[in-house]
Amino acid sequence: MASHFEQLEQSMDQTPSFDGQVAQLIHLANDNGMTVSFMDIGATWLSCTLPVKGESREILLRSPNMAEHIKQSAYFGSIVGRFANRIALGRFEIEGKQYQVGVNNGENSLHGGIDGFDKRRWAVAEHSANHVVFRLHSADGDQGYPGNLDVSVTYTLTDENALVIGYQASTDKTCPVNLTNHAYFNLAGEGSGAKSLDHQLQLNAEGYLPTDSGLIPSGEIKAVQGTSFDFTQPKNIGSEFLTEPDQKTAGGYDHAFVFEPQVTDGQTVAAILRSPQQDVTMKVKTTKPAVQFYSGNFLAETPGLSKTYELYDGLALETQFFPDGPNKPDWGVNRGVLTPGGSYQHQTVYQFEC
Ligand code: BGC
Repeated sequence: MASHFEQLEQSMDQTPSFDGQVAQLIHLANDNGMTVSFMDIGATWLSCTLPVKGESREILLRSPNMAEHIKQSAYFGSIVGRFANRIALGRFEIEGKQYQVGVNNGENSLHGGIDGFDKRRWAVAEHSANHVVFRLHSADGDQGYPGNLDVSVTYTLTDENALVIGYQASTDKTCPVNLTNHAYFNLAGEGSGAKSLDHQLQLNAEGYLPTDSGLIPSGEIKAVQGTSFDFTQPKNIGSEFLTEPDQKTAGGYDHAFVFEPQVTDGQTVAAILRSPQQDVTMKVKTTKPAVQFYSGNFLAETPGLSKTYELYDGLALETQFFPDGPNKPDWGVNRGVLTPGGSYQHQTVYQFEC
């Protein structure tokens, strides 16, 4: 029988990707038997298997093959950019100049626009037994964004069962930059049938960003206290699901939660996710100011590895700057706007206990 890595290669290699060529896959394994796999298309985190109770458990959702991967709009495991999440009407102003970027989500721009970084072939710049570095150049004017932007994403697998994602970017013109990884987790197992709603979540976030029906933040940072958005103590995601207008507008949880500044040192645990059976725990540490907690509200009818996914079959915890930040001058450094010579160096860690 083909090994897990062979199966992955076969599924992604049988059909050419967006650029007519087949994907290149990279696999890493640690001493405990945890594995992670990536492909150069979208610098995508394709697979993550954990040793749980003597078995290997796949905890990421993905497409069954490349033919489906290039059709889906779930952004399974990809690096999204230049700007993760939405920019209202795809418009923003920088240094007095108006820009229009691709509109691909109703009237708004989502995850970098029509030809986002998830659809690009990234260069494999470095590769060792425990890390891989992907690089991408995005030319001035790409998708309407200003500035030549150079981006690198480093994935490192540690023997502490952590996947460390390092993000670096530099630009020669001021431009919005907000890079994240769009993995969907199901800690009970990709094909387990467990729902995002059955997981337990804790977020070190005292505020969240309410949105309009197009999922553009209103600009208000609302206190979570006393609302269904309060995850400051561990809570089952389903326990207050769709109980309030701000959730109903978004079809569930699909909001930026604002971390307390003291937890964004990259060392402190900012979020904890537990599997329904409590046999797997994922801890998230980050230097980014927020996380988009998305409960999988648009997953229905997306072809997946073990089946066609249904609503809430997985959830994403996308560390990021504030959605629509370029249009919200009051948000300061949380807007996700990079200047020439400015530093974009971020790190997010997903650490697993099983
Ligand atoms: C967004 C969702 C969107 C999903 C897939 C998430 O980051 O917040 O609204 O449906 O990505 O595109």
